[in-house]
Amino acid sequence: MCYSPGVMIKQAVIPAAGLGTRFLPVTKIVPKELLPIMAKPVLQYIVEELVQSGIEEIILVLSPEKESIFQYFSEGSFIDQLLDQRGHEDKLLELRRLLKQVTFRRVYQHNPLGLGHAVLSSRREICTDHFAVVLPDDIIFSQTPCMQQLIRAFETCQQTMVALEEINDEHISAYGVVKPAQVVEVGKPFALSQLVEKPSKKDAPSNLAVTGRYILSKDIFSHIPEKLEKLHKEIQLTDAIAQLITTSGVSGFVFEGQRVDVGQPIGFAKANIMMALQEGNDQAEIKSFIEEIGL
Ligand code: UTP
Repeated sequence: MCYSPGVMIKQAVIPAAGLGTRFLPVTKIVPKELLPIMAKPVLQYIVEELVQSGIEEIILVLSPEKESIFQYFSEGSFIDQLLDQRGHEDKLLELRRLLKQVTFRRVYQHNPLGLGHAVLSSRREICTDHFAVVLPDDIIFSQTPCMQQLIRAFETCQQTMVALEEINDEHISAYGVVKPAQVVEVGKPFALSQLVEKPSKKDAPSNLAVTGRYILSKDIFSHIPEKLEKLHKEIQLTDAIAQLITTSGVSGFVFEGQRVDVGQPIGFAKANIMMALQEGNDQAEIKSFIEEIGL
């Protein structure tokens, strides 16, 4: 594959092989990444963010049961042809334009052993020194696409970088939490000295939590084990990033924007409301409905 000259981060990995247990029973048959926010699957918003950020190739990490995700981002299916024949091409125009701007590849993670293992599954497809990783569980509403903010920051320090968000004390133990090694400035990268996965409130080294956007060095692969060390434990990405902090250094970056966790149903409901309230959607109708139900 030939990438545009001057673009530093061209490949992005989207891990989408998880079981989606928080969305059962629907995820028994529909991948959570294809659940819609308005009429678009959540993953399409993520792909749009990546394309706007200059990404040229997306590697989807899938389980064989979630093949429909790859099909969604492919053209020429029977339904595509049928829609064309029946004069509905305009309904697919936006998606088709998007697909022209990026190439998709897929790799399989046959057993969902954890996020670290999902990223490791993409290793043979990565041909640049650094690559992006985006979790489709996090939708970020922002002026500048979140990945674009991260790539700009990366260009100034050129090392592994994690997107960070300030989280309240009561929720901090659900996240990977960093310890900055220097003064934190929003919009600028800063060095990290520690990363702890799901610390207790009292042991959290700060209020800055890792969210679903990363730029990783290829070196990460040598820090991810191929096999589970203990039964019922996951192969975490956080552990590998924590090791990179001590070997080659990792930066943190506090992005501008509002993150919505669409990895759980309540977040999905919030994202749908926020999207409906965006300009160009059914803003007025949703506002009057909210008034009508007395909120
Ligand atoms: P999550 O743990 O939030 O997603 O992983 P999940 O496992 O699909 O959902 P729950 O927790 O059972 O409800 C974050 C992202 O990493 C992917 C998931 O698909 C999701 O996009 N992932 C997770 C993998 O690709 N493989 C894994 O082994 C684990």
